[in-house]
Amino acid sequence: MTSAPTAPKPKAGLEGIIAGDSDICAVEQDTLIYRGYSIGELSEKAKFEDVAYLLLAGGKPSASELEAFNRDLVAERSLPDDAIDIIKRTATQPAAHPMDVLRTVVSYLAHFDPDCQDNSPEAELRKSKRLTAKIATIIGHMQNVIDGRDIVKPDPSLSHAGNLLYMMRGEKPTAEEEKIIDVSLILYAEHDFNASTFTGRVIAGTLSDMHGAVAGAIAALKGPLHGGANEAAMDMLKEIGSIENVEPFMQNAFATKRKIMGFGHRVYKNGDHRASILHGLGRAYADNKGADAQKWFEIGEKVQNIMSDEKGIFPNVDFPCGMTYFVMGIPVPQYTPIFVASRITGWCAHIMEQHSNNRLIRPLSNYTGPMGLNW
Ligand code: SDX
Repeated sequence: MTSAPTAPKPKAGLEGIIAGDSDICAVEQDTLIYRGYSIGELSEKAKFEDVAYLLLAGGKPSASELEAFNRDLVAERSLPDDAIDIIKRTATQPAAHPMDVLRTVVSYLAHFDPDCQDNSPEAELRKSKRLTAKIATIIGHMQNVIDGRDIVKPDPSLSHAGNLLYMMRGEKPTAEEEKIIDVSLILYAEHDFNASTFTGRVIAGTLSDMHGAVAGAIAALKGPLHGGANEAAMDMLKEIGSIENVEPFMQNAFATKRKIMGFGHRVYKNGDHRASILHGLGRAYADNKGADAQKWFEIGEKVQNIMSDEKGIFPNVDFPCGMTYFVMGIPVPQYTPIFVASRITGWCAHIMEQHSNNRLIRPLSNYTGPMGLNW
């Protein structure tokens, strides 16, 4: 019997393995860079639409490029009636998590997209814009159905972030709320070969299509070890419930080896700088809102102090996201879909990059089962 050629055995979870080249994003211990620009500067000076263009088109937009891009996004916001019908039929099913509904509708939209089977750069850019625009609308319509209100149509006068919140709630957001969502979308937009992006690249690497790769990426993001952690972190804070309960909860979690959701990261070992940016904005919003909102940040900060003092483990972006979205009144099951509303840009950039210089992604396994058995 001949066996496959051997290669050095990687650490579990492919930790530390560089799986390919990319021009899109650099995840460093002390900074995060999108196509050369630091996330600190982008979150201060850019809007989500600028960042979406930067990721998808490969560089900073001129004023006229941005205007055309915004026009395209706004024009693509609405959904076909059949897709709205699918949302109505699935969103209130007891077993349906909003991430599953989102995955289903994205997959369904493929059938209405004239570019569906076309993997050329031009077609993929068009599909990226459609998906970026329509995913926000799916989330908004889904929340309307869950809340039992009429569908709130997209408002072309609002930004991507402002329109997302408006469609979800039926009320225009304040400038501060729009800014917080906009920054959270910028922070969530891209993060190199994380699990969902890598999933999308593996699917794209077979020369499959963008909608399929995005549907797979949504499924990968849903898990609580990845994007689902923003919901799990807030659920955990609600379970803790009071500042007095933080210490006993944490000691019990350490004793039972329970994971503290929203903490730790495969790459960042000294903290995730996206977390401090979002925490600052969320904390200021909660301070203005009053004691009921502040309470969640006080509980969260105590959890954070205990984790860093006793374990040397720091929050990732999902921890402040949970608290921030909660004090803004956003329903917890929509936190990971909102992550999708942003990461769709990073995913599409990676799918296009994969297709532009493709080789099938097909690693080896280290077989550990028996050999030589007789049937
Ligand atoms: C995202 O990859 C990306 O870039 C993802 C992301 C993106 O933008 O795409 O940044 C978004 O997914 C953020 C991560 C969200 N997930 C969580 O918050 C879930 C909780 N965190 C963990 O389960 C964990 O930290 C992971 C999954 C994020 C990372 O897992 P690793 O790298 O496999 O680390 P590990 O589980 O092997 O932990 C190493 C040690 C262990 O202790 P020892 O057994 O060595 O003593 O650290 C401990 C762990 O027990 N540890 C934790 C912990 N995270 C790590 N202990 C308690 N609570 C935690 N959250």
